[in-house]
Amino acid sequence: MKVFITGVAGFIGGSVAVTLIKAGHDVSGLVRSEARARDIEPFGIEPVIGDLGDLAVLARAANGVDAVINIANSDNREVADVFLKSMRGTGKTYIQSSGTSIVADLAGGARPGKIFDEATPVNPLPLRAGRVALNDAVLAASNDGLRAVVICPSLIYGVGLGASKDSMQVPWMIELAKKHGVGRHIGAGENIWSNVHINDLVDLYRRALQDAPGGAFYYAENGENSMRELAEAISRMLGYGGRTESMSVEDAVAEWGEGGARYTMGSNSRVRAVRAREELGWSPLALPLLDEVEHGCYRS
Ligand SMILES: NC(=O)c1ccc[n+]([C@@H]2O[C@H](COP(=O)([O-])OP(=O)(O)OC[C@H]3O[C@@H](n4cnc5c(N)ncnc54)[C@H](OP(=O)(O)O)[C@@H]3O)[C@@H](O)[C@H]2O)c1
Repeated sequence: MKVFITGVAGFIGGSVAVTLIKAGHDVSGLVRSEARARDIEPFGIEPVIGDLGDLAVLARAANGVDAVINIANSDNREVADVFLKSMRGTGKTYIQSSGTSIVADLAGGARPGKIFDEATPVNPLPLRAGRVALNDAVLAASNDGLRAVVICPSLIYGVGLGASKDSMQVPWMIELAKKHGVGRHIGAGENIWSNVHINDLVDLYRRALQDAPGGAFYYAENGENSMRELAEAISRMLGYGGRTESMSVEDAVAEWGEGGARYTMGSNSRVRAVRAREELGWSPLALPLLDEVEHGCYRS
């Protein structure tokens, strides 16, 4: 298949692109500079220079391929709408990359939260209402003569397979631990995030591109851990003996900003990837999060 990917120089997009190329697909992707084009070319990805705001560029790219995977920004409705409009009635495939902060709460590190699978209704915080509406619009577009699918990853860990190697939450916590000489979590650190290894996640994108029915929504996870467990593993990996300390939500905001602290690091985001396992035969194989942190790629 000919596939166009946004965010192709990034952590998820680059990893998906490399995986699809290995599987025999032709991949092009959006980059916003010549420098980024040079970063992705060695992976065999054909660069299309432009910004997400260049809607004509996006429409043209969609017209020239069999499938679009939109990864650069999980919240940009205008971009998704342009792709869906360009692909309407063509029978082509559109995959929207979302994120499980759609189920996040405001626990402030205090307690474990509710668990969601694909059948559980989502009642998002105001910050994520737009993302949920966007996901719903994508799924509904399957009634317009295209195959539209949403993949919703949880906390992603591991090393990127493309030009960008680092994800977000684990590197953020490692940097903070190094700064303070101890693992750190918000409040009691009892809040839990589901998580998925990038190597397993890309296999889900590959399977969805091949086999997902239109209108399918898939969570992606292969386990879950509290933020305190993650901070302890980071502390052991860095030689701090597993010691951790609590920080206030306000301290976390100073480190990671409002969104990063309250909606990401201090929240619960617990999902179960039931549908991908049942419908696509997805079977995650990679090291669990705490093992990867303590003994795997983060040591180097
Ligand atoms: N990483 C995770 O754990 C995770 C989990 C769930 C959901 N998500 C969501 O998934 C999306 C991608 O995540 P990621 O980790 O792959 O992020 P990333 O590594 O920062 O990659 C994002 C890519 O999108 C490109 N991009 C951003 N704005 C653009 C614009 N206006 N025009 C063209 N390209 C643009 C960036 O280009 P440059 O290279 O030029 O900066 C970058 O290559 C984000 O919305 C994120 O919130 C991430």
